[in-house]
Amino acid sequence: MYVSFETIPTFVWVFIVTYAIYLIKKPRLSKNEPPLIPYKYPIIGHTIDFLFNPENFLAECRQKYGDPFNIYVFGQVNTIVGNEIAHEVYQSDTFSLSVATRDSFPLYRVLRSLDNPETMESLIKAIREGITAKLPLYTGRMQKQLMGYINKEIGDCPKPKLIDTAADNFASMIARPVADVLVGQEISKNEDVIKAFADFTKDFASILAIPPILSFIHPKVHTQVITLPLRFGFNPILKHMITLKKHLKPVLEKRLKEKKILGDKYEPPLDIIEYFVNDLENETKVITEGYMNKICDFIFITVVASIHTTSRQLSSALYDFAGRPELWDDLYEEQVRIDKESDGELTSQHVNKMVKLDSFVRESLRTFDAVAAIPQKCMDSYTFKNGMTIPKGRTVLTYLSDIHYNTTAYGPNPRSFLPHHGMENNIPASKTDKNYFIFGSGKHACPGRFFAVNEIKIGMHKLILKYHIKTPSGKVEKKVFHGPLAEPPITGLIFENR
Ligand code: HEM
Ligand SMILES: *[C@@H]1O[C@H](CO)[C@@H](O)[C@H](O)[C@H]1NC(C)=O
Ligand SMILES: *[C@@H]1O[C@H](CO)[C@@H](O)[C@H](O)[C@H]1NC(C)=O
Repeated sequence: MYVSFETIPTFVWVFIVTYAIYLIKKPRLSKNEPPLIPYKYPIIGHTIDFLFNPENFLAECRQKYGDPFNIYVFGQVNTIVGNEIAHEVYQSDTFSLSVATRDSFPLYRVLRSLDNPETMESLIKAIREGITAKLPLYTGRMQKQLMGYINKEIGDCPKPKLIDTAADNFASMIARPVADVLVGQEISKNEDVIKAFADFTKDFASILAIPPILSFIHPKVHTQVITLPLRFGFNPILKHMITLKKHLKPVLEKRLKEKKILGDKYEPPLDIIEYFVNDLENETKVITEGYMNKICDFIFITVVASIHTTSRQLSSALYDFAGRPELWDDLYEEQVRIDKESDGELTSQHVNKMVKLDSFVRESLRTFDAVAAIPQKCMDSYTFKNGMTIPKGRTVLTYLSDIHYNTTAYGPNPRSFLPHHGMENNIPASKTDKNYFIFGSGKHACPGRFFAVNEIKIGMHKLILKYHIKTPSGKVEKKVFHGPLAEPPITGLIFENR
């Protein structure tokens, strides 16, 4: 009998293709690997458990198989490291967060400078030297910018007013101090620039809405598909680039000119673009298109690292506050005292005195509830101190719940909200430690954490002084989960003048 392609029924094809993928995709493990959790269905592996029941699933694995262990998700073996092993990963040079995020968040496709490894290095240096070290000098400006948002966007609330937070989780609030610090006082007055900063991450992420189904074949296939629109000329962030360039160029030119005229008498403004003017002096005296691209890339990379991360935690902290009436008086009392002391003009000393608020913020960050996060790519085969080995190319995820809900550190009910824990143990919100990994750990720990915590504290201080803040239900609202990742609740918050 002659068999044409058409006579082979579809289901046979499906079977053949599935079996072929299965053969290709059968998880390959090297010698001495952490235990691979057994699973029922080939290819699918633990994908369903990991997406829909991560907390219980990982807790069960951890209990039966210890730390670390391997799971099989979207066609890839991932190694999960918990409380005992995570610190090893963060101390080693073998792991890279930026390489791990390339596939799932291909920002380098639109910000080409990210392809140059020196970009991240100089960016981290600029954050350390230009933001963290100068934080006290920025306090007044941050306060002004945050108040600008509060007065304009929340405003007078003689009656309870429901503010929708789901649309941007206060990204347009945090965009203001970030813009002030990055591009300076002059440009940050411009509402178009603020909007470009606030929307950038969301607009870029709009191309990532496709779930990584194609990663079952290979993660690269997924990356190729999600970046297709970019290759066809659709660039959701181009308009933000144009806005920034338009406002930035004349300011850079002005500064360069002043520098030339004034020489040693030039008084450098305090902001991150001043870093670039210094650079420019050495390289060239004219601002070229290539130079503008470089500096805009640099600024938007920082925007992606700093705005949504911070605003999401601010939003979450406000929900934590609003849902816990028992904490209101104590925190309000501290803010009123510091407000009187500072006469409404905060300095960094005043921010440092907000110890109750700091402890509250730390607790909100600890209980944010991301189950497993911070992907890191293993860049060379790596052997843990316990002798287990993982191969080059493996993605390692940090089991944050295991670290943040540790009973030795946080007592018998580690999941309860312990507002005084940081204060009583003298650990500020910006300090990483072995049971607090929200900012990572070791030499790559988030360089922006001091800035982020300051923004959250100043923002909350001002909001608590001005308003009663409640949740619609009067209780703690539920967070939204995307697989093992958490997002703040979306019910909205009720503001009313004090
Ligand atoms: C509450 C807000 C924030 C959270 C939760 C957060 C979290 C993190 C985490 C978990 C890491 C990885 C650390 C590691 O690998 O050990 C990281 C890295 C980083 N963060 Fe943040 N971050 C926040 C705000 C910021 C801000 C405001 C900036 C910039 C001003 C920033 C810039 C960076 C940079 C540049 C890195 C890469 C560091 C490196 O690779 O050495 N972050 N952040
Ligand atoms: C520019 O050159 C001067 C003198 O050669 C040097 O001191 C300075 O560090 C350089 N600046 C940068 C940003 O490279
Ligand atoms: C909590 O963390 C510490 C330090 O990492 C560790 O020594 C201890 O065993 C952990 N406790 C539990 C119950 O896992």
